[in-house]
Amino acid sequence: MTATQYLSDWRPFPFEILETRLEFRLDPNATRVRSQIDFRRLEQGDLVLDGVGLKTLSLAINGQALDLSLIREAEGKLIVPAVSLPDSFTFEAEVQIDPEANTALEGLYLSGGIFCTQCEAEGFRHITWYPDRPDVMAPFTVTVHSDMPVLLSNGNPVSVESGKAVWQDPWKKPAYLFALVAGDLRAIPDSFTTMSGKHVDLNVWVRPGDEPRAGYAMESLIRSMKWDEEAYGREYDLDVFNIVAVDDFNMGAMENKGLNIFNSKLVLATAETATDGDYERIEGVIGHEYFHNWTGNRITCRDWFQLCLKEGLTVFRDQQFTSDMRSAAVKRIHDVQTLRARQFREDAGPLSHPPRPDHYQEINNFYTATVYEKGAEVIGMLKRLIGDDQYRKALDLYFDRHDGQACTIEDWIKVFEDATCRDLTQFKRWYTDAGTPRLSMTEKWADGALTLDFAQHTAATPGQPDKPARVIPVALGLIGPNGDEVLPTTVLEMTEGQQSFRFDGLGARPVVSLLRGFSAPVTVAREVTADEQALLLAHDTDPYARWQAGHDLALDGLIARSNGDEGGAEFIRAIGGVLDDAEADPAFAALCLALPGDEEIATTIAASGTVPDPDAIHAARRALTLDIAKAHSDALSRLYDAMAPRGPYQPNADGSGRRSLRLACLAYLSRLDNAGRAAALFAEAENMTERQGALEQLIAAGRDQQALAAFEAEFRDNRLVMDKWFMVQPLRAASDQAVARATELAKRADFDWKNPNRFRALIAGLTSNHAGFHAADGSGYDFLADWLMRLDPVNPQTTARTCSAFETITRYDAGRQAKAKAALQRIAAMPGLSRNTSEMVTRILA
Ligand code: ARG
Ligand code: ZN
Repeated sequence: MTATQYLSDWRPFPFEILETRLEFRLDPNATRVRSQIDFRRLEQGDLVLDGVGLKTLSLAINGQALDLSLIREAEGKLIVPAVSLPDSFTFEAEVQIDPEANTALEGLYLSGGIFCTQCEAEGFRHITWYPDRPDVMAPFTVTVHSDMPVLLSNGNPVSVESGKAVWQDPWKKPAYLFALVAGDLRAIPDSFTTMSGKHVDLNVWVRPGDEPRAGYAMESLIRSMKWDEEAYGREYDLDVFNIVAVDDFNMGAMENKGLNIFNSKLVLATAETATDGDYERIEGVIGHEYFHNWTGNRITCRDWFQLCLKEGLTVFRDQQFTSDMRSAAVKRIHDVQTLRARQFREDAGPLSHPPRPDHYQEINNFYTATVYEKGAEVIGMLKRLIGDDQYRKALDLYFDRHDGQACTIEDWIKVFEDATCRDLTQFKRWYTDAGTPRLSMTEKWADGALTLDFAQHTAATPGQPDKPARVIPVALGLIGPNGDEVLPTTVLEMTEGQQSFRFDGLGARPVVSLLRGFSAPVTVAREVTADEQALLLAHDTDPYARWQAGHDLALDGLIARSNGDEGGAEFIRAIGGVLDDAEADPAFAALCLALPGDEEIATTIAASGTVPDPDAIHAARRALTLDIAKAHSDALSRLYDAMAPRGPYQPNADGSGRRSLRLACLAYLSRLDNAGRAAALFAEAENMTERQGALEQLIAAGRDQQALAAFEAEFRDNRLVMDKWFMVQPLRAASDQAVARATELAKRADFDWKNPNRFRALIAGLTSNHAGFHAADGSGYDFLADWLMRLDPVNPQTTARTCSAFETITRYDAGRQAKAKAALQRIAAMPGLSRNTSEMVTRILA
């Protein structure tokens, strides 16, 4: 049994650190780490240091050896009693660690021969003894001895010679921001001059041969640095900024001070090997990690319960950045889609937790859509409520007041209260309460007045039975029956469980364009006719609300069909209008053309209290797709041709918008021509976006053999591209063949399952094939459980994250539930199961 950590148990660390000095002698199996840490007492208390899996060679205080029996191996602590400590002292340790044996990719490890680190959240304790908590900050000096050609750490280089490098980071930082890299790497160099005229050397470090694929990452970095100056007045603060790409990485990337380490899939891109989606993510994540320099590093978190303080804010900032670089409307719709697919799903099941949780067993299980994406939505709501100017004022105050500190959500809220003179007590519930509020609206129309009655309700979540009302910013507009806007966007502030708003002096009854811009992360229940939705889809001035109207129309039709009723006729008709206007805004048209996925349909059905049938849902979506294709074949075919490439590939909003529309048309047309156009496109396409899009249609049509072989022959040696090959097969295979397909692929010698990207490609490909994963015979659940049990001893973090594929099981019928539970119980019963996976499985089974 593992102990639960509680927010209420937080106590300050009784010492401060004046300086941390580290000296590494790198060796694949026997790396030596010597540390010298200058402590000064702040209050009474023992010195408690964290350390896990260390071979401790020596410990000393002020040169006096310490007894190794002070180490409590089982707890991962070293406790030096207060009585034996002076007020100021230097703690010294020498430990030995084994990077090559580190398959968990936490701490110091080897990736393809490159030494690298991942210390967030609690990886530093795998490197040496330290107060491994974010509120203990110190300047670091790091010496690295190694014969590797490139030796990097945080901060500025002090001396770099062959076999030895010294790095100094003048900015106080917690241990989770420590990084070290040593390897045979090549740089894409560039530079940046900050707004106050400081010169910064920039490098993106990759393996020899990958240099031509790193240019976009560098351009993205420069755009990020400029944007943070313009949008937030934030300047970079060191002489160098390094980014390193590694192939083995549990997450996307890491914001270590001055030395960001990235999963190579978020750095390397060329038109031939990366899709538009990959390019957009690279730009967004380069931005995200760079923006952490202020929101995360200069101002960090007091404890890990406050994770959304840095992650919610930094996601919000990277979303703003992407909207400014690309299309704000398209970005908003994408973000809403992601939030619904990942966060609403999480919030509706056993893993539901607030953006600021108050307990956990394993913090790595809380790098979730709720902490990140909902954390960002909460900031968006704050901004909507107080306005742009007040938001900027509050952020300036935040940077002013808290620079150099480790903060809490309370500090953050207080900044907004002080800057705006508002009481945010009720607003704070968005941080502390889990669950997605359901906002319902009914309308009354009389004598030119429209009365809107709103009610909010949030269902109980684990450990939180009662849900008081929240502040909900409801942005709305009114559209007259002729399509004219009669009320521009107005933000209503709902604070009660039930509340009415009245609009007078209206000539004719308007249609409400509700929750414009997705002004709050809530689900909406309202009575609205198909004609009204069609009117909004045609005339709403808010792009998100327009898209949502069409999306709801499609969803209604799909749900009716999955129940065996008629449905979708209105959507089929409305799509005609979208196709007519498509060339004016291809990216938006592509979004409108894309039907809700099976998972979203299932979620919507489950939310209405009905048991979703994965096979019926899948059949309904296929049938509606075919009907749309038949009804609009001419327009689809015309647009498909019109969206053909015009000139060389550009990974920008314009180019990707055209390609997304082309591929949306292709998905329909492939149902009419047995993927004939897809076969032609696959053969002639010069960019991966079209190539992969075509391949997916060929797989769905069951005529993929040649294309898969050609793809493999061409990209066999490119790990990132082969990840796509592994992913799209189980994803697009017919649902009754998906598990068999995944099973076959998993037998291949190049299914290098210890690499998190490769593991996730295959597994997430399958679990994202809704009807395939939820096969009634339970084969999808068993396949997943078998692989989780295999991976857990090797890499607990990636295993635990993947468990969330099971978080929706209670929605389904008793047969599926029983099979999924049996699979989970098999995992739970595994001897030596990691704390990470054990917590996830226990919560899901609770
Ligand atoms: N702070 C990183 C980011 O969001 C995430 C690192 C999390 N890593 C982990 N093993 N939990 O940018
Ligand atoms: Zn982050």
